[in-house]
Amino acid sequence: MSGASAGLLAALAALKAEAERTVRAATERDEVQRLRTEYLGRKAGRVTAILRDLPSLDLEARRTVGQAANETKAAIEALLEAAEAALAAPAAAAGADLTMPARPRFAGAIHPVTRVVDEICGIFRDLGFTRVTGPEAETERYNFTALNFPPGHPALDLHDTMYLGPGTLLRTHTSPVQVRTMEAYRPPIRVTIPGLCYRRDPWDASHAPVFAQIEGLVVDEGVSFVDLKAAIGYFARRFFAPDVKVRFRPSFFPFTEPSAEVDVQCRICGGKGCPVCKGTGWSEIMGAGMVDPAVFEACGVDPERYTGYAFGMGPGRIAMQRYGLSDIRMLYEADVRLHAQFVEGK
Ligand code: DAH
Repeated sequence: MSGASAGLLAALAALKAEAERTVRAATERDEVQRLRTEYLGRKAGRVTAILRDLPSLDLEARRTVGQAANETKAAIEALLEAAEAALAAPAAAAGADLTMPARPRFAGAIHPVTRVVDEICGIFRDLGFTRVTGPEAETERYNFTALNFPPGHPALDLHDTMYLGPGTLLRTHTSPVQVRTMEAYRPPIRVTIPGLCYRRDPWDASHAPVFAQIEGLVVDEGVSFVDLKAAIGYFARRFFAPDVKVRFRPSFFPFTEPSAEVDVQCRICGGKGCPVCKGTGWSEIMGAGMVDPAVFEACGVDPERYTGYAFGMGPGRIAMQRYGLSDIRMLYEADVRLHAQFVEGK
């Protein structure tokens, strides 16, 4: 063996011995990475540097040194991999209990009203309703006039409505989207319309100046009050319970005739009377009725050919019923003690 090849073999052995010390001493993954480049880098690595004189050796020496170089590389590679694996699992290396559950951290939840809105629209979707939306800033025509509110109706009063300017306002209900839907689509129409509404109501346990509604509208040939009752009954049984008691009370709205208010037996007291149902045993969940022909006319729908029903429900009130909340303000306060109960999967 020539002196040159003996020198190269010795250099390789020394490099491997050095790598054994330095790689084992590494405490950071960055450091291991740096050592990998230092030893094994294809261009500037130290193994490559040792092999620089290889071409000047004879064939047999080249073979011996080449094989030794490959073994050195493989040995250093194994050291680097072991170091990387150890540093990738520092907790395990330190003897931590990896089966210990993580500390729970509250990272937000779907708001109870949003959950209720999604669930209600989902139930109506099964009945063929499409979910649509409309603007919160409205004109007096969509919010009132086309819905058959007579001029001078108390709802138009500054006292009840937040005006943005002459003839423009923040919608007081989702009913204006009924008008927008009938202007945009020909019957048959079956829509749910969730959204926020605004009224100059002061905050108290059962009123808020900003609140959600879900409007429903069905327009087709031959739609009757029976269809309305059937749809609402189906909804209530699926949303509340198969045996829930529902009642329709005669009422009045300018845009429906006849009109009704719909109550469900209070889920909190089971009908005995409690603060949430104000002692009545019933909880009002919506207004409803048959679309007034005057509304059809204002929207360009032929009232001789079509009939329809509409409803408007308060998902805030419904969320209170479902989750047993006695004060609507709890839905606005972002109190973690409430919202942590609505984390997905609970
Ligand atoms: N818009 C009414 C309100 O905000 C609720 C309502 C009642 C909507 C009857 C309807 C309906 O579509 O038919 O008080």
